[in-house]
Amino acid sequence: MSANNDIVLRVENLRTYFETDGGIVRAVDGVTFSVKRGKTLALVGESGCGKSVTAYSILRLIQKPGKIISGRIMLHADEQESIDILSLSEKSDELYDIRGGKVSMIFQEPMTALSPVHTVGNQICEAILLHQDVSRARAREIAIKALGDVGIPSPQKRIDIYPHEISGGMRQRVVIAMALVCRPQLLIADEPTTALDVTIQAQIIHLIKERQRDLSMAVMLITHDLGVVAQSADDVAVMYLGRIVEQADIRDLMKTPRHPYTMGLLKSLPSLSNRHKRLPSISGSVPSPAEIPTGCPFHPRCPYCVKGLCDTAAAPELTSLDSKHSVACLRANDSELKL
Ligand SMILES: Nc1ncnc2c1ncn2[C@@H]1O[C@H](COP(=O)(O)OP(=O)(O)O)[C@@H](O)[C@H]1O
Ligand SMILES: [Mg+2]
Repeated sequence: MSANNDIVLRVENLRTYFETDGGIVRAVDGVTFSVKRGKTLALVGESGCGKSVTAYSILRLIQKPGKIISGRIMLHADEQESIDILSLSEKSDELYDIRGGKVSMIFQEPMTALSPVHTVGNQICEAILLHQDVSRARAREIAIKALGDVGIPSPQKRIDIYPHEISGGMRQRVVIAMALVCRPQLLIADEPTTALDVTIQAQIIHLIKERQRDLSMAVMLITHDLGVVAQSADDVAVMYLGRIVEQADIRDLMKTPRHPYTMGLLKSLPSLSNRHKRLPSISGSVPSPAEIPTGCPFHPRCPYCVKGLCDTAAAPELTSLDSKHSVACLRANDSELKL
């Protein structure tokens, strides 16, 4: 099937809800997207939009009271093999093969992925031994090479240190080494640089790009920062309140955004004249997904909202403008909407 050749992950109409005392939290509410083989899809949106819940759903890591309500997640690991992730049983070997094997994930805070009581080397070796049939001595060689590949100097010495003995930036390099040691087809990087300072952030993004090229792997980069996206994505999906509101290739999205939410995110990027200050240009904050506004979910914060249309009609569906650009806005074709 030709789709398998260029698409590594296809998510269709995914809904993940949390049943809480305060009501049903519709964290992910009908999300559809594809990640192309070897390419980077950025998933962007403010905090609380459902990015992490989407990522956790892909690896089936959603814990109670959360539940995947509906949808389909297909992993086309290679041209021959397609796995329907939501149909796998909780304890199946296939699911273990996927987690950390075919699909790897790195998180915002490197210490959540590392144990403080084991050396860096032992942790990477464990990850290797879990998925590869090699001896411990061979795993150690692979681990040393992996540490060198992520730019850790003198890896043969550093392999025996503990995570607390190195800086945050170096720890995130270790986490990346561990995530990539089984050569995944897809890396999900959930805010991988948010906890790091700005100069280190750029280095880590650069490192992910470099390793992506070497391993021909796809990356799903989750971030609240369109600045990071501009440096590294091929395609972008903008998420708001559990839905994708705009999807495009990076050039179209940066040049001709069509959703007022995307425009707001772009406007809050620091410009050359305003390098250090981000302008908060989207008014208000993300409402709770337990109380999603009727009509277009963005309408209470939207400067282009038309009363009687945007607040009353059904939530707009993601609609194609052309083959590379879709948007979910009732006024997407209105020339009044511009950056
Ligand atoms: N265990 C949980 N119980 C209840 N609500 C949750 C839980 N986990 C996440 N949520 C809610 O789901 C929404 C999306 O969260 P998340 O995916 O973490 O957002 P993002 O990663 O975009 O910042 C948020 O409103 C969050 O409060
Ligand atoms: Mg998150």
